[in-house]
Amino acid sequence: MLGAFAELVRAGGGGPVGDLGCGPGRVTAYLHGLGVDAFGVDLSDGMVAEARRTYPELRFEQGSMTALDMADGTLAGVVAWYSTVHTPPALLPKVFQEFHRVLAPGGQLLIAFKAGDLLRHLDHAYGHDLSLDVHWLSPDRVAELLGDAGLAVDARLVREPHEGERTSQGPQAYLLAHRPATDG
Ligand SMILES: C[S@@+](CC[C@H](N)C(=O)[O-])C[C@H]1O[C@@H](n2cnc3c(N)ncnc32)[C@H](O)[C@@H]1O
Repeated sequence: MLGAFAELVRAGGGGPVGDLGCGPGRVTAYLHGLGVDAFGVDLSDGMVAEARRTYPELRFEQGSMTALDMADGTLAGVVAWYSTVHTPPALLPKVFQEFHRVLAPGGQLLIAFKAGDLLRHLDHAYGHDLSLDVHWLSPDRVAELLGDAGLAVDARLVREPHEGERTSQGPQAYLLAHRPATDG
């Protein structure tokens, strides 16, 4: 799906692509390797520092998907790679409106998330004590919310866990969408 997304962005003439909730920057770097002008944004200063340290040639900034420090219609693409899974579902309409706002007409969106209907709360993960919610959502529900935000869903992929992935993680979903040339 990342390859298809990169092809669609390039076919549309290219332009800046925001990897929103980029974490350590691995997807930003992967897209850059596919010829996409990708940069990363993450809420966490620590993640931004790690991404900058690992990929010093790429641009990473601190910011939130709920209120992006970007002008309207400036991005050729947005990727949200498992970055909305911690967002309370009630906040998703606001996040998707931000994606729509910053995308140029014709701009592409790729969103990855855990498919299902579940909220898991973690008190310990990645070797740390923490307080973290992880939301599984149905692809139909996410597609509906994207549509409500004015984005047109073009394709969906739902895959089962790979060998080596914990089967308790369940299926993963990927939706490709775009901002229509004219908002209806
Ligand atoms: C599960 S990680 C995924 C990281 C990265 N996309 C990847 O696949 O390696 C979720 C990331 O989303 C970021 N995040 C969560 N809420 C955010 C928000 N409102 N704005 C920006 N980043 C956010 C977290 O800080 C974290 O780095």
